[in-house]
Formats: sequence, structure tokens, C-alpha cells
Amino acid sequence: MPVDEEVAVKIKTFAGVERIRRKETTKKTLEKVFHYCRDCSGLTVMDVGCGYGDYMAEVVRRGGTVYGMDSDIYQLALALVYFKRLGMENNLHLFHHDIQEVFERDELFDIVFCLNVMEHIPKERKALKNIIDLAKVGGKLFFLVPIGMKTVEEDDSKEKEKEELTDNRGYTVFFPRSFVNQSIHENGGVHVRDYKKNEFVEKLKTFPVEVIANDIFSARGERNNIYTIQSVVVKKTQGVL
Ligand SMILES: C[S@@+](CC[C@H](N)C(=O)[O-])C[C@H]1O[C@@H](n2cnc3c(N)ncnc32)[C@H](O)[C@@H]1O
Repeated sequence: MPVDEEVAVKIKTFAGVERIRRKETTKKTLEKVFHYCRDCSGLTVMDVGCGYGDYMAEVVRRGGTVYGMDSDIYQLALALVYFKRLGMENNLHLFHHDIQEVFERDELFDIVFCLNVMEHIPKERKALKNIIDLAKVGGKLFFLVPIGMKTVEEDDSKEKEKEELTDNRGYTVFFPRSFVNQSIHENGGVHVRDYKKNEFVEKLKTFPVEVIANDIFSARGERNNIYTIQSVVVKKTQGVL
């Protein structure tokens, strides 16, 4: 079934809304990622494991053409809801696909994102090969992986309140509750591995890529957790792997 039809069927099951507050991690990672591609005009960007589409929306704002892939049809439906709310639905191209399988497509992309996804993927090496295969030679790939998490006890409700008030780009997002629940119920979002510092970048170096940025930063998540994240940008140096 084409993804549009599949999504339309799911959308009929809407009931209630869920408020999703974007996390500080999202704000910080948006800054990190777009530091290396400030102007996306004329570029094609594939977001693997796109979720509801924060990063895809930013690509559109910066003039790029965006493609999103996710193995969870509920996340793709949420992306459609989100893009409709932003009035950007005509800019969205979605694929329902598990990146552990080869993605058959002639066109390659200037930029590939894989943000907060690798820790969910059991067949890591297979997925990495398929992800790198999506990029043009000379194209850039952006990865984020968590490398640690700790809990903080302090109350940050005032800070959250402030975030909501200062939001001018749909900072708090409302979604159909049934979708969010189904997605969590069926797909969990469980991490299948914990990356150690630099473990992921070392794995990437076994592929034909050149590392052009490698940063570590921390940010607060939605459940009052502090996440430490490794952000890696590479350039693809060879054709079909
Ligand atoms: C933690 S979310 C990250 C979403 C988004 N990239 C972000 O950073 O906000 C992980 C996403 O990866 C998707 N995902 C997990 N395994 C996948 C796979 N094998 N192929 C494609 N997408 C996958 C999940 O459905 C989910 O939407």
C-alpha cells in the first residue's frame, strides 16, 4: 500500500490529542546539525528514522527538499499531521521502510540524517551500510547517538513554562493520542545498545567516509534526564559499498 493510503487509514482512527513538548535535547541538536548545513537550498535531504519530523521541518525552512523514512507508520502519520499544521505538507515525501533492508532507489541524496536512531537498530552494520549507500559521493551524513544519561532531581517547571511562552515556532506540538500510544505500544522505542564515547565514530571509520566533525554535548530531556550525545558528521568518499 503506498504510504499516503496507509497513513490515511491510520488517520481515521484519531481520538484526542497528546501534547508533546520538544526537549532541550532537540533544541541543542537542531543547532548542532544545522551548524553544518545552514543553507539547504537546492539540496536533497533524507532523514532516516525521521519520527514526527522536527529536523525535516527545519530543512524545509532552510530551503531544502526533504524526504523522511521511518519503519513506524504511526510516526509517519504524526509527521503528516505536524507538517499539515505547519502548512508544509506539500514539501513532505515519506517512505515506510526499515533501514535494515536495502532501500531501492536510483536517486541519491546530498545529505542524510540519522538522528537518535542507531541505538534502536539491532542489525547495526547492515543499517549503516544502507544509510551510507543513500548519500551521493561527496555528500554529508549526520549522526547523533546517545552516549550516556543521568537523572536530575531539581524542578524545572518554571523553565518549561518559559519555553512554552517563548515558543514562536510551534514549540509544543499536539498529536492524536491514539497514534502516540499505538506507536509506543507497537514499536516501543527501546534502546538495543549503549554506545560508549567514540565507539560509534570508530565503527563509522570502517566505512568509506571521512569524519568532518565529532562533538560531544549534554542536554536535558523531557523526563528531567540529562543526555550526553555524540554528534558525528562524515563525508562519503566512495560509491556503492
Ligand atoms: C528516538 S526516535 C528519533 C526521531 C528523530 N530522528 C528525532 O531525533 O527526533 C527513533 C526513530 O527511529 C525510527 N526507527 C527505529 N528503527 C528503525 C529502522 N530499523 N528503520 C527506520 N526507522 C527506524 C523509530 O520509529 C523512531 O521514529
